[in-house]
Amino acid sequence: MALVTTKEMFEKAYKGGYAIGAFNVNNMEMIQAIVEAANELRSPVILQVSAGARKYANPVYLKHLVEAAVATTDIPIAMHLDHGADFESCKSAIDSGFTSVMIDASSKPWEENIEITRKVVEYAHARGVVVEAELGKLAGVEDDVCVEASDAMFTSPDEVQEFTSRTGIDSLAIAIGTSHGAYKFKPGQDPKLRLDILEEIGKRLPGFPIVLHGASSVPQDKVAIVNQFGGSMPDAIGIPETELTKAAHMAVCKINIDSDLRVAFTAAIRKHFAEHPDHFDPRQYLGDARAMMKELVKHKIVNVLGSAGKADE
Ligand code: G3H
Ligand code: 13P
Ligand code: ZN
Repeated sequence: MALVTTKEMFEKAYKGGYAIGAFNVNNMEMIQAIVEAANELRSPVILQVSAGARKYANPVYLKHLVEAAVATTDIPIAMHLDHGADFESCKSAIDSGFTSVMIDASSKPWEENIEITRKVVEYAHARGVVVEAELGKLAGVEDDVCVEASDAMFTSPDEVQEFTSRTGIDSLAIAIGTSHGAYKFKPGQDPKLRLDILEEIGKRLPGFPIVLHGASSVPQDKVAIVNQFGGSMPDAIGIPETELTKAAHMAVCKINIDSDLRVAFTAAIRKHFAEHPDHFDPRQYLGDARAMMKELVKHKIVNVLGSAGKADE
């Protein structure tokens, strides 16, 4: 199957009360881990690429690696630009074959956010590509931008109708308590999503797909492996997976996960070298990293997203 947009995935996810995982990719092993997991569970999946990933891996490599993954399976796969910073980066992704882009002008003033977003929508829609945009501000680090918790802002339900109708976007990322990165909350805190805001947004935008960024839950078993084998990740917790599942039953159709994948990948590599200090063949430790990431993606699909088996519906 060729790459698809998220349009049909989201329609089905909205109606079915589940969400599609959007997993960040940076290299071949990550793409394989995610696609193999999704394929075995027959789940649609979104592979997303940040500006940092494009800089690291070279956009041409990433595009061809994703195409190679697509050739190995018949599940629906979308290739999405994560946090496009401006019109030019969205245009470049669209021109190179992405089927979905995010324009993230959420830090810009209201009218500017609308203007940039609408320009991206015009360009994208003319080429059959769908667009995600964001209202509200998440705390945490994405690329080189760091938003302090005190500057984070929940999305206002009063703004969503005007924003979506004036821009023509296909999905909307909102801030309801998630945040980027692996150090979201301290142990003992009881992080909850503002599901009341999500519910209100759902009422204002019936049938419209909502996106959650910063949805890593910081897997404590994987952090423990990192720290057992020489790492020193601080004690931290993320959004409980049960909260994310509740959101998936509501209007949330796309859930972004990056940090948890990174922790799993790193945990496996640290463990590998601790157990085999003589190894120097990258296939040995990257193979372990791929396997641990695949297991984590399967866990998310089954226990958080609810998208297993949906590729065939
Ligand atoms: O939201 C940001 C993603 O986790 C991507 O991170 O910009 O370091 O690739 P990155
Ligand atoms: P996490 O850092 O919580 O994995 O969020 C990833 C994300 O939102 C990518 O856009
Ligand atoms: Zn994000």
